[in-house]
Amino acid sequence: MKGVILAAGKGSRLYPITHHIAKPLLPLANKMTLAYAFDALKGMGIDEICVVVGENEGQMKAALGDGSKFGVKLSFVRQTEPKGLAHAVGFAQEFVGDDSFVLYLGDAIYDRGFGEIAARFRDSGCANLNLVKPVEDPRRFGVATVEGERIVRLVEKPQNPESNLAMAGMYFFGPALWKVLPDLQPSGRGEFEITDAIQMLIDRGETVLAAVYEGAWFDTGTLDSFLETSRFLAGDAPVVAGQLSGDASDHVVIGEGADVACGSITDSVVLPGAKVKVSGSIRRCIIAGNVDRDGDIENEIIYGE
Ligand code: DAU
Repeated sequence: MKGVILAAGKGSRLYPITHHIAKPLLPLANKMTLAYAFDALKGMGIDEICVVVGENEGQMKAALGDGSKFGVKLSFVRQTEPKGLAHAVGFAQEFVGDDSFVLYLGDAIYDRGFGEIAARFRDSGCANLNLVKPVEDPRRFGVATVEGERIVRLVEKPQNPESNLAMAGMYFFGPALWKVLPDLQPSGRGEFEITDAIQMLIDRGETVLAAVYEGAWFDTGTLDSFLETSRFLAGDAPVVAGQLSGDASDHVVIGEGADVACGSITDSVVLPGAKVKVSGSIRRCIIAGNVDRDGDIENEIIYGE
């Protein structure tokens, strides 16, 4: 089995930082976001991995290289435009060949291994098995209707969800996927949806299974979810790899080589190398670059030039 990681999105909900640092390269608890994906795949015995990149191609290749420093073998393909998950995965077809593969969304973080789920996919011989998880507000996700262990219906971001089971960002596929991709049409939001591709597999009589994930799952795409994931990984006590003068309380991560001088800092992440001077308090922020401000800052994503 091989691995395909989708990492071509623009990360626009973390602008302006992601104008400068590609989202999959951002550190979470002082470890690169994609390094968590590599570890999850390695835990399933997968070390041949294709990363689907976009405009961030140069930066991604420079940071990841051939993967040897992460203990994996990496290759890259470029998605021409971010036109959806099913569009993105199509670029990895040649890499996958006749093999089966795990599709991993580059901004997903999990806290448990997948050995049993991968074994279930292999043993079942099904066309596709998907991680699902009950969530409070399914409208932000692809939503699965499950009967027994089978998924019978899938809708992307429905207004009136039929269930509370969100598609949780990890998909196991056999070669049947490649047969449906050419017939896919863009969705209402103009994207080629992986959920629509899977619905096509179901409509054509293929076996599509659900695996309910019991662990914690985060997607790191927004200020709130980034801070929540960071707190989960780093813990409540401040983690200071750089310099800090000022009071730190609650969740705080200060990266290597960062230098922070402030009144106080709470529930915030300062990226490696940042130089930050804030006369007041810093609360619920992600900060990179050179920042010099008077007063308090709160709920901000800041890239100081
Ligand atoms: O987080 C789980 C959800 O992910 C699922 O429940 C949905 O069914 C699925 O469609 C997806 O929804 P999102 O709208 O959250 O996906 P997002 O645009 O955030 O993209 C997910 C990852 O895929 C992200 O790491 C960027 C990458 N990507 C995205 C697009 C649209 C690409 O590589 N190429 C693309 O064209």
